[in-house]
Amino acid sequence: MKKLLLHLDTDPVPSAFDQAVVYDAGVDNIIAYGGITRDNVTPHVHGMIFTRGGKNLKNSAIFIGGSNVAASELVGKAVKKAFFGPVSVSVMLDPNGSNTTAAAVVRKVLTNYDISGKKVVIIGGGPVGQRSALYFIKEGASEVIITSRSLARAKAITEQMKQDYGVDIIPGESRSDETVAKLLKGAHVAVACGPAGVCILPKSAWQNNETLDVIADVNAVPPMGVEGLEVMDNGTEKEGVHFYGAIAIGNFKMKVHRGAISALFESNDQFLDETTIYDIACKIDL
Ligand SMILES: NC(=O)c1ccc[n+]([C@@H]2O[C@H](COP(=O)([O-])OP(=O)(O)OC[C@H]3O[C@@H](n4cnc5c(N)ncnc54)[C@H](OP(=O)(O)O)[C@@H]3O)[C@@H](O)[C@H]2O)c1
Repeated sequence: MKKLLLHLDTDPVPSAFDQAVVYDAGVDNIIAYGGITRDNVTPHVHGMIFTRGGKNLKNSAIFIGGSNVAASELVGKAVKKAFFGPVSVSVMLDPNGSNTTAAAVVRKVLTNYDISGKKVVIIGGGPVGQRSALYFIKEGASEVIITSRSLARAKAITEQMKQDYGVDIIPGESRSDETVAKLLKGAHVAVACGPAGVCILPKSAWQNNETLDVIADVNAVPPMGVEGLEVMDNGTEKEGVHFYGAIAIGNFKMKVHRGAISALFESNDQFLDETTIYDIACKIDL
């Protein structure tokens, strides 16, 4: 029986990137819709759960994507609600690649590195930064800071994370190079999770830091998010610090993304989201 994937995207046009990964993960056919909201998703879900019964249901699955993470999460909830008990298909939620990218960031940083008891500073509190913070805590980091250029925004993010996941993340302000350097005092790991093409960690902020062991950056568009880091760095040591650039992280992210898509077709009852996608990443060779 053919493996079918229903691709639901909250953006008007379903992502070509997400569809290419699905074919590379061995899926036979994609049924893709854009403009998906929690209010219009139910008939699409019924189309998947009422066409293949019993054991065959595991050959159908749903992927939810889109650049608006909050909207995609609402669609995820509506999809779950549309299932009837065991009449369900497996679902993967990876809006804007946030879960697979963050999982790749943390797995890369942990290559030959014990994070337990370490201080981590994540510069940039978007979806990738937030998920990365969650995974660093899960792995035993003793202190994780998430920054924003506005302390009030950073506080709002950390309070929401406490509410959603019960984790204690510390808010930090990254308004200037000086404030970033101050936050990095005593830090062992720094991760740049800023927007594409913006340097958010200048060399002056990390060069004379005596505790930093690892610096990672998810931005692949020049200039790099970290001054002195190169996009291909894959644990490269410079001035006593190991660097991971966006291509090294991105290559592993692709493996995690394909691995999660493949896992969808193992049973009809999985919901792969920000927590479970990390578990899949942990089983994939770096
Ligand atoms: N390598 C890969 O495989 C891969 C895959 C997916 C995504 N990515 C990259 O991951 C990065 C993070 O993604 P995301 O969706 O989490 O990011 P995002 O939400 O677009 O941005 C992260 C944070 O950066 C801050 N920011 C925005 N403009 C800024 C500026 N001019 N200067 C300093 N800070 C600024 C914002 O925080 P404040 O406004 O609160 O300061 C924002 O919350 C992006 O660069 C994306 O391209 C990489």
